[in-house]
Amino acid sequence: METHTVLFVDDEPNIQKALQRLMRQEPFEVITASRGAEALEILDRTSAQVVVSDQRMPEMSGVELLAAVRERHPSVVRVMLTGHAEMDVAVDAVNHGQIFRLVTKPWNEDELKTTLRQALDHWDLKQEIQRLNQVTREQNFRLQDMNRTLEDKVRDRTKQLVEKHLELRTAYVQTLRTLAEAVDAKDAYTRGHSERVGVYASKVGRELGLPKDLIERIYIAGLLHDVGKIGVPDAVIQKPGHLDDAEYELMKRHPEIGARILEPVEFLSDVVECVRHHHEWFDGSRKGYPDRLSGNRIPLPSRVILVADTVEAMTSDRPYREGMPLERVVDELHRFSGSQFDPNVVDACLRLLEREAEGFLKKDQKFDIYAFLEV
Ligand SMILES: [Fe+2]
Ligand SMILES: [Fe+2]
Repeated sequence: METHTVLFVDDEPNIQKALQRLMRQEPFEVITASRGAEALEILDRTSAQVVVSDQRMPEMSGVELLAAVRERHPSVVRVMLTGHAEMDVAVDAVNHGQIFRLVTKPWNEDELKTTLRQALDHWDLKQEIQRLNQVTREQNFRLQDMNRTLEDKVRDRTKQLVEKHLELRTAYVQTLRTLAEAVDAKDAYTRGHSERVGVYASKVGRELGLPKDLIERIYIAGLLHDVGKIGVPDAVIQKPGHLDDAEYELMKRHPEIGARILEPVEFLSDVVECVRHHHEWFDGSRKGYPDRLSGNRIPLPSRVILVADTVEAMTSDRPYREGMPLERVVDELHRFSGSQFDPNVVDACLRLLEREAEGFLKKDQKFDIYAFLEV
């Protein structure tokens, strides 16, 4: 433990000696000064924890000295030693918080010793509080620092996870695209049909102001809408020209077959219904299939896909006809708005066709659904 030092300031050598003698057994060192200026000089070069000063001294009074000590060495504990004659000055100093204790002359030895021990304890305590404050401050800084580092780490990790998630979804969409291409390949005339339906449908979805997750679902359902054609005989699929009734019945089964194929795939659970109902008519008429649902009971993605499907089919070449011009497509959409098609979906599609014209129908669009959803 650090040794303590007490500085006594008194202009009378006898009193200095008496104090030194009195404190000989005490656990602190004693130094003395006989003038205020000398005391200040000593404090500048040695570390005393307590100053005990007489009040009445030449040049600088005790109150003046202790005020100067307070100013220059605020941690030093100040004690005033004073005769009854100067009591009012000393009491004033105590009241102004300039000194820790007042001891009267002639002193009681035990009282003076006790006062000095208390003064040193007071100093120790203040030091300890200061030290603890410092430790707390440092620990706070360290904690703040750790927090920042932690936040950075969490941010980095989250970013990595989001990127990984996107990579996985992109790879998964790529797999679905391959499946769709396999379906389209059953008929030389429908190459790229599924992808284009997905693209057109997602654009219409965005035009409708739908949330991103729904647009993603529309794209994926668009990609897979005809997957059930896998279960329709090639002869029916590849037949040029119109189908007879029996063939048409076989063809009409593809939405149900598609839904059944997709049903066991857990992450496509939202898509199954959209595929199943992509040939329902908005007015619920018997031309729609398989369940003859009407209006809002048909899932919105199915209604969007039906319009996109029709636009894609009309503008593509077929063995028995060329792709139709845009004006004809617009006419057809108007003609069937409200019967086959949801009028809101038709309106959104018409707005897009008007704005983008042939650009909307570009056949070989490289489409990244997630980049599209970011814009
Ligand atoms: Fe279809
Ligand atoms: Fe289709």
